[in-house]
Amino acid sequence: MKTALIGKKHTPLVIGNWKQNPPTLIKALQLSDSLKKTISKKNVLSHVCIAVPSVYLTEVHKRIRTTRMTVCAQDCSHEDGGAHTGEVSATMLKSVDVTHVIIGHSERRAQGESDERVAAKVGHALKAGLTTIVCIGEKKRDSAGDYFGVVESQVRAVLKAVPPSALGRFVIAYEPVWAIGTGKHATSEDVQEMKLFIQKILADVLNRQAVRKVRILYGGSVNKDNAENLFVEGRVDGFLVGGASLKAEEFAYIVNVADTYGKK
Ligand code: PGA
Repeated sequence: MKTALIGKKHTPLVIGNWKQNPPTLIKALQLSDSLKKTISKKNVLSHVCIAVPSVYLTEVHKRIRTTRMTVCAQDCSHEDGGAHTGEVSATMLKSVDVTHVIIGHSERRAQGESDERVAAKVGHALKAGLTTIVCIGEKKRDSAGDYFGVVESQVRAVLKAVPPSALGRFVIAYEPVWAIGTGKHATSEDVQEMKLFIQKILADVLNRQAVRKVRILYGGSVNKDNAENLFVEGRVDGFLVGGASLKAEEFAYIVNVADTYGKK
């Protein structure tokens, strides 16, 4: 594969995905305060986003708005309004100062979310002006390399919903399902190979300019011990961090890796 497809460097993006944690608003605000203290204001390069449960979005936003961090939603509706009990639209999220949204996380896909549904959500999120992180990744790695086909069909399905004018706000998070919450991460070689593979699909479906605009993150058991190697050798544009984002010191360390090496 051609390394020329790597393109110029982006501002790194580091997202902390809190998932269904912490259990109360008080604890969510305590964690926000700890992040405020630990995420450095110096050496600022990366954009840092915390994906909090939707009921906490407004209060956490108020708590961190003087910092470089912004809030991210963990999902949004496939429709922009109407009779959809329990759903929250991308427009609603944007109206309460949410800047980013994660769509198609494997934990949602495991509940039956299809590629078509993911694409519909991405279309609405981009239209509403949110930066949209779509998660893709194989359930397992087989020696025949079928996982490339899985990733390819997920990427091709979602690209149908991305207008060329929104490519700068479209982010792909490569998150192999087997690496999420397991302590087993993809190697930096695997990550770089998958990044190049995804870029090749982008060039094929769109064009080479598109490749430069789309950021590609890695997620799946990122922690303080592997972040440097994954960022530098994996050549990703940032991380989607789950478990380690609930520990302020560890998350700050990972952000610092992106700040430090994103410059080089
Ligand atoms: P993990 O989760 O870092 O705990 O593996 C990543 C994610 O689910 O986004």
